[in-house]
Amino acid sequence: MANPCGVPLLAVSNLETYYGPIAALKGISFEVRAGQVVTLLGSNGAGKTTTLRTLSGLLVPRQGKVSLNGVAIGTGEPARTARRGIAHVPEGREVFPLLSVRENLMLGACARASRSGSTEDLERVLDDFPRLRERLNQPAAYLSGGEQQMLAIGRALMGRPTILLLDEPSLGLSPKLVTEIFGIIERLNRERAMTVLLVEQNASVALEIAHFGYVLELGRVALAGTREQLRESEDIRDFYLGAKDVMAREGRRWKRRKIWR
Ligand SMILES: Nc1ncnc2c1ncn2[C@@H]1O[C@H](COP(=O)(O)OP(=O)(O)OP(=O)(O)O)[C@@H](O)[C@H]1O
Ligand SMILES: [Mg+2]
Repeated sequence: MANPCGVPLLAVSNLETYYGPIAALKGISFEVRAGQVVTLLGSNGAGKTTTLRTLSGLLVPRQGKVSLNGVAIGTGEPARTARRGIAHVPEGREVFPLLSVRENLMLGACARASRSGSTEDLERVLDDFPRLRERLNQPAAYLSGGEQQMLAIGRALMGRPTILLLDEPSLGLSPKLVTEIFGIIERLNRERAMTVLLVEQNASVALEIAHFGYVLELGRVALAGTREQLRESEDIRDFYLGAKDVMAREGRRWKRRKIWR
């Protein structure tokens, strides 16, 4: 899905979002090219969820511009934003527990103006997530955390989105399930050219599949780069990558302490 004009699919410019008097986003800018997986990394409270909620229209920014395919889109209108093709899979999944898996999935088709073709879409989603096919008529409440994450992503896909916004899909899942979910996201991107904006605290898994990433700190973009640049960055390694790197950092500190003494 190459973009001949070089216009990013999603362009975010100088976004400022407040909760009352408190600025959660202090002028962030970034872009997502069609067919890319772009990750927003950052620790607790950095502003990742606020960014996604602003993009999907759930929060109204005080300043800034969001463009989809070069066209500025209004903010604060979630239903309209969904119809434009921005699908948000929220932190904590938010599936409807008492509705069946099938009903949850079919609700995703409501994001589109017309529901024609939704039976074929359902089949495609069930091919992507075979575990959901097995549980199709059960209430969503009976699914495990990982299966609920699959259901939330599947529901978003039912709206035939242009871009998927995923908020911490790894949250609370076992390493095995994280690998499975990220494998599916990677396949959706590779085989279907699905564009993904992936929010994660788990930088090591996010940088396995992302082409580009931005690091948020206290509502600002502190660092940006390709997957390779971010993986090689000392700051990222020190603060966001796995235990092995933390141990390496502690080792370096310990060595320094020895020298000072
Ligand atoms: N509903 C709210 N009311 C007031 N402040 C909020 C609200 N939601 C978030 N904040 C504040 O906004 C800032 C950004 O929060 P946000 O949820 O976007 O962070 P995050 O990067 O998603 O963090 P986490 O990794 O913990 O999910 C934080 O300081 C947070 O306390
Ligand atoms: Mg969050």
